[in-house]
Amino acid sequence: MDSIASGAEADISRGEFLGRRAVFKVRRPKGYRDPDLDRRIRSQRTRAEARLLREARSAGIRTPVIYSVDLPKAEIIMEDVGGETIKARLHAHPEEADEICAKVGSTLARLHNARISHGDLTTSNMVMLPDGRMCFIDFSMGTSLATTEDMGTDVRLLERAFSSAHPGLEGAYQRIVDAYRAEKNDAEAVLGKVQEIKNRGRYT
Ligand SMILES: Nc1ncnc2c1ncn2[C@@H]1O[C@H](COP(=O)(O)OP(=O)(O)O)[C@@H](O)[C@H]1O
Ligand SMILES: [Mg+2]
Repeated sequence: MDSIASGAEADISRGEFLGRRAVFKVRRPKGYRDPDLDRRIRSQRTRAEARLLREARSAGIRTPVIYSVDLPKAEIIMEDVGGETIKARLHAHPEEADEICAKVGSTLARLHNARISHGDLTTSNMVMLPDGRMCFIDFSMGTSLATTEDMGTDVRLLERAFSSAHPGLEGAYQRIVDAYRAEKNDAEAVLGKVQEIKNRGRYT
């Protein structure tokens, strides 16, 4: 197995599962937490992530197919979707930014139309597939009964991502908003919320 990433919570590696290329995501124990509590948190987040990956998929959003979930181990084995993160893609091909951002905006709008929020929408949690489709991953902070506030937070996170991780592409954020507006039901409520969230940050 090849390790791909070690994030704050999970170890990600690539391998095979029943002959298919798979990604193994295992939430590591956190030594500073009470062991029982730690097990519960890890298994609950694993379950939440698997459930949202499936729900988003049912709503027509491309997400990895889940092969196996082991709650005591806090492990999800899923389809390796291939491709590259939007973050890597934008760095390698900044000229594609407008096109990529339009896809990000319309995909997010479809997710939100299904009342699902992502919760951690960074350019590392979106993958551009070899066929050009957009795939969302890493749903553990999401919710399936998303409020306008939850959705506004998703959009705001993207705006921040484009002002920090992708300087020089600030203009591309507007493409996300345009595409979002075109696809999302009652987009103005969410975009109004984004403004409100920004103002809150400014005055507190
Ligand atoms: N199903 C998958 N197929 C291909 N690559 C993946 C898959 N899941 C994760 N990755 C890669 O591993 C990285 C980390 O996975 P992620 O689920 O976002 O974990 P973390 O919670 O640590 O951020 C992603 O940014 C992506 O590059
Ligand atoms: Mg991630």
